[in-house]
Amino acid sequence: MSTIKRDGFGSRFGVLVAVAGSAVGLGNLWRFPYMVGTNGGAAFIFLYLFFVILLCMPIMFSEFIIGRRTQSNAFGAIKKIAPKSGWLSIGVISVVASICIMSFYSVVGGWTLEYIFKSFSPSFLTSDSSALSSQFSGFSQSSFMPVVMHLLFLAISALIVVAGVKNGIEKYSKILMPVLFFLVLLLAIRSLTLDGAGEGVKFLFHPDFSKITGETMLAALGQAFFSLSLGMGCIITYGSYVNKKENLFKISFMTVAADTGFAILAGLAVVPAVFAFGIAPGQGPSLVFITLPQIFAQLPFGSVFAVGFFFILLIAAVTSAISLLEVVVAYFTEELKMTRKVAVVVTFMIIGVLGTFSSLSQGSLSDVTIFGKNFFDLFDYTSSNILLPVGGLLVVLFVGWRMKRADVLDELTSGGTVALRKSLFTGIMLVIKFLAPIAISIVLINSLI
Ligand code: PHE
Repeated sequence: MSTIKRDGFGSRFGVLVAVAGSAVGLGNLWRFPYMVGTNGGAAFIFLYLFFVILLCMPIMFSEFIIGRRTQSNAFGAIKKIAPKSGWLSIGVISVVASICIMSFYSVVGGWTLEYIFKSFSPSFLTSDSSALSSQFSGFSQSSFMPVVMHLLFLAISALIVVAGVKNGIEKYSKILMPVLFFLVLLLAIRSLTLDGAGEGVKFLFHPDFSKITGETMLAALGQAFFSLSLGMGCIITYGSYVNKKENLFKISFMTVAADTGFAILAGLAVVPAVFAFGIAPGQGPSLVFITLPQIFAQLPFGSVFAVGFFFILLIAAVTSAISLLEVVVAYFTEELKMTRKVAVVVTFMIIGVLGTFSSLSQGSLSDVTIFGKNFFDLFDYTSSNILLPVGGLLVVLFVGWRMKRADVLDELTSGGTVALRKSLFTGIMLVIKFLAPIAISIVLINSLI
């Protein structure tokens, strides 16, 4: 038993806001709209929702169960229950995945920062797509500013993490999340009231199932894990800070609902506008950065919308980045016995360097490829489509087959204080033991063939 007193969340609202803050981020506002655009619209959304309900809910409370039971970081948690076993790979995946994700996340965070500044200049908002496109590539491919912005974004997130759980993460998330929701809602309303928005709504909600392939399925699964911060110990780590009395079921449900709501809302904010202005939805990671300024240019008070949107994106990105950093920092402090400050500095340096590579891979290092992917794409693909699904698979197997059934029940009922019907518990265990692992395996294997 550790004698170090662990930091924890101050209130129920604090837990919810911090976990939802981790989930809602660039994954919803930047990645979701462009994945929908490149993967055929409604059919992708359908798969996404299917995976969220069937797989992500059970994985989320599985992670909460592991974290709260052990009161440890992802690696230490597994070590407490199954020392010196292959299960420790869950801990390894967590730390590696966090570093991988941050190594491109921080770069996109940096682009966001730059676009806030750009939005202030009146000449930035133009209806000329090619000018905007070359503006984006000109900036993202250069070797200096994007790197500086990536380091600045990383530094902001690291400073919040240094302050600790209660004073840092919780305090900031509490203020930022509701503001974020309100601003995206405003954007969605504006987008939906544009002339020609109907085509976009159709694209979002009328599925064409012939578009579904093994790759699309993996993309939808990876997006669901990414968006909900699952499969990489993030929720295990946050779960370790959750009070013993909290209802894990309720927290999981509310987080999934909030995150999915945000994703759909982001889709409604971006896609109808894209169609209204005749822009191609499948342009990939640059979609938000190339398309939105053009949309803003055609709106009254466009600059205000632009600054507001990129500011929202930044807020969302920071609350997610701090949860990613926390996984690595908690590992360094609890397993390697570093002080919190030293752990943050070491983490900053690792991600600072890797992120620089991924930023440069947009320009000067674009010729350097591994498995045919540049650094940025490699970090993204490896984490979302491999590490997170494999991590999630191991998590459900661990809770289903390795943890004691009585301990799982104890956590799900918060030490017997929350009523849980026996049949419901049996159902949950069936999903965790069989359904979820089989479904994830099928998607993974299917994408290989
Ligand atoms: N869920 C975050 C987002 O949507 C990203 C993230 C992934 C955060 C994994 C933590 C863990 O932006």
